[in-house]
Amino acid sequence: MVTRADIPLTPAINVPVTAQIEGAVPHYRGAGRERIVEQIKCELREQDAVLVAHYYTDTHLQKIAEETGGLVSDSLDMARFGNTHPASTLIVAGVRFMGETAKILNPEKRVLMPTLEAECSLDLGCPIKDFVHFCDTHPGRTVVVYANTSAEVKARADWVVTSGIALKVVRHLHDRGEKIIWAPDRHLGRYVQKMTGADILLWQAECIVHSEFRAQALERLIERYPEAAILVHPESPESVIDLADIVGSTTRLIDAVRELPNKKFIVATDNGIFYKMRQAAPDKQLIEAPTFGEGATCQSCAHCPWMAMNGLHNVLHVLQTGENEIHVEESVRVEALKSTQKMLEFAQQ
Ligand code: 13P
Ligand code: SF4
Repeated sequence: MVTRADIPLTPAINVPVTAQIEGAVPHYRGAGRERIVEQIKCELREQDAVLVAHYYTDTHLQKIAEETGGLVSDSLDMARFGNTHPASTLIVAGVRFMGETAKILNPEKRVLMPTLEAECSLDLGCPIKDFVHFCDTHPGRTVVVYANTSAEVKARADWVVTSGIALKVVRHLHDRGEKIIWAPDRHLGRYVQKMTGADILLWQAECIVHSEFRAQALERLIERYPEAAILVHPESPESVIDLADIVGSTTRLIDAVRELPNKKFIVATDNGIFYKMRQAAPDKQLIEAPTFGEGATCQSCAHCPWMAMNGLHNVLHVLQTGENEIHVEESVRVEALKSTQKMLEFAQQ
């Protein structure tokens, strides 16, 4: 299982990569920022490109995507969008599996990512060789994998799901009497198991961001803000999910801020989402749920270090150079397409 401790250290200066990333992503201000934003917008037009950004990425990237007809959303919508938009180049600001999913679905398009270093601990925690062995050891089970996996793992699966559709798919399979292998997120898998009653064999990886949310500290915060609604992404530990008013995908949590009558919300997911939550309900107060790093000098608490690698500078760079193109080996892509396509078709029903 990949944990925060597994994030590589720079031998020379021995600083966690999370801290380096923050230092490495230039922060533009004032006229400098306006200039680079305009350059990116101009390149998007000239390159027939569209920007698809996850909610956890830099606010300025989210703004550019919105202002140029791109998309800011969760991983399910990101997958759907590339499929329907006419642009010949997709710039995917997020983590590697998101770029790969875009390529799996759109082989004729050029898919570029601001960085190829942006991983995900769930993807890293589910190496293809071990996963194939696990599946082969338990034949007869339907293999359901979270979108946060490599193209190879998707190719071995029967179904791909995102947090936005996991419950619906597993309920459907359970109703058909199917037994399931679930990978890689153990917390989401356990939550799905509990909610559907399905017979699920769980892989044991976790998200290094959401696994840090802490129930005891959250209880103390709830005592301070008893009127707040508690919003939790299902990659969080069971004890945190148990305290939630709403458990759901990133899009579901944003909708909750807009729709619920509460004026205060305690939010247990990556804080990059606050940009869209504020847009959805500017008059409401958003409070970060406490993490393991509470009171400590943790540089990346409640913020994914890999999502943070996406910045204005590297979006412009890939637009100008065409670097960081995503390629998926064709035989893998064709198999991964089957399990991914099933999810998209099911989502339409
Ligand atoms: P969503 O599909 O809810 O956007 O989740 C993706 C993710 O990586 C959350 O950590
Ligand atoms: Fe992966 Fe967690 Fe980052 Fe989402 S927040 S991309 S699950 S490491």
